[in-house]
Amino acid sequence: MSDVYLNGEFMPLEAARIPVLDRGFIFGDGVYEVVPVYGRRPLAWDRHWQRLEHSLAGIRLANPLTRAAADALIMRLIEEAETEDQSLYLQITRGVAPRDHGFPVLVNPTVLALSKPLSMPPASWLESGVNAVTHTDDRWYHCDLKTTALLANVLLRQQALDRGAVECLLLREGQVTEGAASNVVLVLDGVLVTPPRNHLMLAGITLALVLELAQRLGISCAERPISDAELRRAQEIWLTSSTREMLPVTCLDGHVVGNGLPGPVGKRLLAAYQELK
Ligand SMILES: Cc1ncc(COP(=O)(O)O)c(C=O)c1O
Repeated sequence: MSDVYLNGEFMPLEAARIPVLDRGFIFGDGVYEVVPVYGRRPLAWDRHWQRLEHSLAGIRLANPLTRAAADALIMRLIEEAETEDQSLYLQITRGVAPRDHGFPVLVNPTVLALSKPLSMPPASWLESGVNAVTHTDDRWYHCDLKTTALLANVLLRQQALDRGAVECLLLREGQVTEGAASNVVLVLDGVLVTPPRNHLMLAGITLALVLELAQRLGISCAERPISDAELRRAQEIWLTSSTREMLPVTCLDGHVVGNGLPGPVGKRLLAAYQELK
């Protein structure tokens, strides 16, 4: 069984090897996607592919894969995986070269893809909601690019874990951007509100799907700046991401959100999302 694709070859995970001078390892010089797979069908693969192209363009790396080659390789990994529901990881780095910040010339990018079983969050997280904390968004100004340079996000997520929470919600100059590894949607006075999709946050695929479902269900939506004060008075706070789908936040920085239970608007959307997938 091959569960990894590396530079044109399929192999077991244990057999996959990357040279130490790979710029992904040395500089975090690469981009990636995580695609949820349900019943061996990738959800919104088209959108993930488009976002990968956006990230590659953002780091000035030509895409070494054609769409047809990418389709073929992910489908083979998906077919050969043990479970029906999977989390598919695809990463492209600027390749192997002597360590020097400037781009190397004539170097082949490294392409890695692997599939692992999709592990859903515990049911209790959906029933009761989760704790989140806030922190200053101290990342860079290219958060729309899904790069492997994730140290800031790693430190922010760990802040949350250290404080007994599952996610860290980020505030840049007093305005909500996203979570350390998720997007944020709020219900404020009956309106589903999300921060503006710009260079300060990743344009989440799950978020886009949820917003489309909201429109279909006739829920009014607004994409606009959200202040710290609005975050704290939201009736509902939900996190969205490919691997965790939608998670209700019922406690923020130790204070109850809404009535302390997952709210009705998000629950409707979550039901619609289950239908969609
Ligand atoms: C920083 C960040 N924002 C948002 C998301 C959610 O994006 P998506 O719904 O495409 O998984 C992620 C996912 O990992 C993320 O890392």
